[in-house]
Amino acid sequence: MCGIVGYVGRTLDGTALDVVMEGLARLEYRGYDSAGVALVDGDHVETRKKSGKLANLTAELAAHPLPPSTTGIGHTRWATHGGPTDGNAHPHRGGKDGKLALIHNGIIENFHALKQGLLAAGVEFTSETDTEVVAHLLAASYDETHDLTDAMRSVVARLEGAFTLLVIHADQPGVVVGARRNSPLVVGLGEDANYLGSDVAAFIGHTRHAMELAQDQIVTITPDGATVINFDGTPAEGKAYEVTWDAAAAEKGGYATFMEKEINDQPHAVADTLLGRTDASGRLVLDELRISEEQLKAVDRITIVACGTAAYAGMTAKYAIEHWTRIPVEVALAHEFRYCDPIVNERTLVVSISQSGETMDTLMAVKHARDLGALTISICNTHGSTIPRESDAVLYTHAGPEIAVASTKAFLAQITASYILGLYLAQLRGGSFADDAQAVMKELAEVPGKIETLLGRMGRVKEIAKFMADTRSVLFLGRHVGYPVAMEGALKLKELAYIHAEGFAAGELKHGPIALIEPGQPVFVIVPSPTSEHGLHGKVVSNIQEIRARGARTLVIAEEGDESVVPFADEVISVPATSQLLAPLLTVVPLQVFALWLSTAKGLDVDQPRNLAKSVTVE
Ligand code: M6R
Repeated sequence: MCGIVGYVGRTLDGTALDVVMEGLARLEYRGYDSAGVALVDGDHVETRKKSGKLANLTAELAAHPLPPSTTGIGHTRWATHGGPTDGNAHPHRGGKDGKLALIHNGIIENFHALKQGLLAAGVEFTSETDTEVVAHLLAASYDETHDLTDAMRSVVARLEGAFTLLVIHADQPGVVVGARRNSPLVVGLGEDANYLGSDVAAFIGHTRHAMELAQDQIVTITPDGATVINFDGTPAEGKAYEVTWDAAAAEKGGYATFMEKEINDQPHAVADTLLGRTDASGRLVLDELRISEEQLKAVDRITIVACGTAAYAGMTAKYAIEHWTRIPVEVALAHEFRYCDPIVNERTLVVSISQSGETMDTLMAVKHARDLGALTISICNTHGSTIPRESDAVLYTHAGPEIAVASTKAFLAQITASYILGLYLAQLRGGSFADDAQAVMKELAEVPGKIETLLGRMGRVKEIAKFMADTRSVLFLGRHVGYPVAMEGALKLKELAYIHAEGFAAGELKHGPIALIEPGQPVFVIVPSPTSEHGLHGKVVSNIQEIRARGARTLVIAEEGDESVVPFADEVISVPATSQLLAPLLTVVPLQVFALWLSTAKGLDVDQPRNLAKSVTVE
């Protein structure tokens, strides 16, 4: 939540504002309650800030332009302390002389106690935020130290909670100081200019040379470089890396919305995540894990921790990993994990799944698991993010940047990566499914082409969505791996179209939810392949008949050629045939497309739905 940009350049050519605003445009998906910028202007700092979307700040800047500057910071906010008003928008000034400005992502948990101390000392506050407290502390510390890095070091020692902070001071032009604890901050290294951002999208238009920071570090950027120290003042080094995608990947590429683009990116997301994970003979090779085979062979229990869509990817993976490895797999919502006294020890493998790698609930679950002695693997889409850093190992998904708040291509990439992990464990353990790993990998390799075919057939789904713009409630049913797909379909509709939507395990229907069915109630049903095991297909077809008999309008997602559903379906959406465990990579696609176009038909903001932020960095 909240997007942060910092910039220093050598020349006074007006670039600072352009760079910061460009960065904010790319980070707006992280929060859009307000936006603001601050630039060093001679002996003081100038700020402009506005509640609402970035467009409001752009209008404010047009009405009240800022001067050229070499040094600037910018912020897009997802409100925590204090409502989304102009006054609570960042940057916040500290001190009385208007020389210092600060932006912040996270929550300062002890802000109340710190504020009482400042109030007692006569400091006046202009906002309700926890951030302004830190701004005043920094200003006071700067007055003593006359050095922004030293001031930051003394202040972070007094802060509790999670934070990324960026500060500028008029007396130190050409310097931006950042600090991070449990909140993201990456450095962009340019020529005669350097950058800070919540993620690399902030500066991808200018440089692909990036540097990771570790926990509890302070970075000082100038036009000449970046210097890193730990909170205790000892020198440190960031880890440099090259960003593997370019600015075009973070743009809409001709689509009206990022979500539409990202849905259409899905064949690549799956194909790229599969790339390089097998050797010439087709055996899975995961050297990147850097966990010994012995340790992995000793695993006797797996717990997946994740939130939202990533948790549904985990639920899907549970079916596959248990089937292939015979290791019990539990899926825990990350925010519940710590509080349920989890049964975890050194033979437990805790797999976190996170697109952003910054979700605070998931991060805290990973830390808790490590404290309990578990082996931790992160499945993550964002290089250099916090969760992989805090884990024993990482298996990256290669979906490319996901900008739309509603997750789509990351979901498919997460399922793909967790299947790779499951197959690798099966191969290592040498059980009855070890030999199947190569065959499944071959079948997975065919999935991108099948998604491509399916995307070409989505015209009717788009029409159905437009026709259903006034619908007030939609239900989703699935069994086995179709169950998490049903829940993901419902989540997409809730977050994008603000429609009541629920996903159920189809077998649960008769235990209560069937009472919801009344004439005209739309119900999506995800039907397993007729070749599925345990007669599952026939059971779901019976479920369709049961709801149809009670007047439901049935929208049936079924394997192409499955004629058995036709008599009971108001609409049949055909997906290419694939084996049961791989089917979610296809069956979820029409549900994403449906939510996209229903939201569009309602005239809503597809990429930035209300109340949400892409990366949830508060608990
Ligand atoms: O970045 P993460 O994958 O950790 O995010 C987890 C959830 O917040 C995320 O999937 C959320 O549910 C999406 N908005 C769903 O579309």
